[in-house]
Amino acid sequence: MERTYISKIKMKENRETLLKGWAEAIRDLGNLIFVVLRDCSGEVQLVAKKDSKCFDEVKNLRREDVIEIKGIPIKNEKAPNGIEVRIEELKVLNKAEPLPIEFSGKISTDLSKRLDYRFLDLRNKRNKKIFELKSKIIYFVRSFFNDREFVEVHTPKIVAQGAEGGSELFPILYYNKESYLTQSPQFYKQIMQAAGFEKVFEIGPTYRAEKSHTLRHLSEFWGIDSEFSFIESYEDVMRLLEDLICDILNNIKKNCSEIINYFGIEFPEYKKPFPRITLSDAFKLIDREGTDLSNEEEKLVGERIKKKFESDFIFITKYPFEVRPFYTMKNDKNKNLTDSFDLLFKGMEIVTGGQREHRLSILKEQANEKNISLESIKFYLDAFKYGMPPHGGFGFGIERFVMQLLNIKNIREAVLFPRDVERLMP
Ligand code: 4AD
Ligand code: MG
Repeated sequence: MERTYISKIKMKENRETLLKGWAEAIRDLGNLIFVVLRDCSGEVQLVAKKDSKCFDEVKNLRREDVIEIKGIPIKNEKAPNGIEVRIEELKVLNKAEPLPIEFSGKISTDLSKRLDYRFLDLRNKRNKKIFELKSKIIYFVRSFFNDREFVEVHTPKIVAQGAEGGSELFPILYYNKESYLTQSPQFYKQIMQAAGFEKVFEIGPTYRAEKSHTLRHLSEFWGIDSEFSFIESYEDVMRLLEDLICDILNNIKKNCSEIINYFGIEFPEYKKPFPRITLSDAFKLIDREGTDLSNEEEKLVGERIKKKFESDFIFITKYPFEVRPFYTMKNDKNKNLTDSFDLLFKGMEIVTGGQREHRLSILKEQANEKNISLESIKFYLDAFKYGMPPHGGFGFGIERFVMQLLNIKNIREAVLFPRDVERLMP
């Protein structure tokens, strides 16, 4: 007999059915036992009566035993989803020991303990849904870029140089040489412009040795990166990003409403074009001064913008060169500023992007200004010698997007097995 997934059980009404899964809850009423069976597709109530030949076996079940049952799905208005399965045969495939954490959500367990037993924690419906949504988002992103004929690329994760500044690099031993885990596909996605691909994107892991403990930083996160050629200005990059975000959100609305309803979140407010303000206007908006926004200031700006423009997204533009990497294009009118942007979502940076400097002599000057040795980035600079078009792109943190969308407080919840200052296992 072929196994039936629980989500398809209604199609098997009154017919013998084979189900497999975990015994999530067992309620023993003496001469009647209810078992909630869970598989990857859902849950269903099983029932065994005293006169059933497997009654004693059902009585011996413990929470989270892995079982397979044959039974008859029968309509019952009192059962969850209006159906229950009368157990005819039970086979225990593997017994479960008493559980070290409670994952049902009835009692709250602290996150660190939950992460220690992540495989159990992920049996919780809400926690699993975060990853179902993440998987859909990645699917929507891929179709968005494919529809626009961007090529998906895979650049090295073991690299000789950081692209975003040195302090956050993870050194690793590469044979006898020191090398690093990639901090961003930045150099390589730019080199792909010199390779003439024109439009590329990458979805991949990114590593940052973040020393501080925050709710929004991981040591390993996944980025959606894109880079494309022959742009007129960084406005082109913001427009593509805006299209991408709206496309993802429209698709979530259309195809993932069940997940959104489950989280009971208010769907973000978004409308093209997203509001844009310069960094200096952002500081004016919150009556402060500075060269870069702190986490708290991003939040304040987000709140003000939401009131003013009814948008959960805001582009902040023209960051000073002093807070941007050397490859960033300086603004033509004010060389202290750059043609770059951050995208804030509900008051948190989720994307950084902009136009890149494609003229080798200026690029070298900018590297010098940041005290970067030209020798150390020779492989990158070489790509600018033999025909490098004007180009730009962005890096978009997937976990940040998911956490903001679902109003998750700690970014670690948006990663299966988070890596941070303290955590290397599981
Ligand atoms: O702002 P970042 O550092 O920008 C870059 O890496 C550039 N190369 C992007 C570009 O194309 N110019 O990183 C991009 C995004 C951030 O906006 C944030 O969403 C996410 O990556 N991010 C992190 N997410 C989780 N944990 C961390 N430690 C992160 N660091 C960056
Ligand atoms: Mg950034």
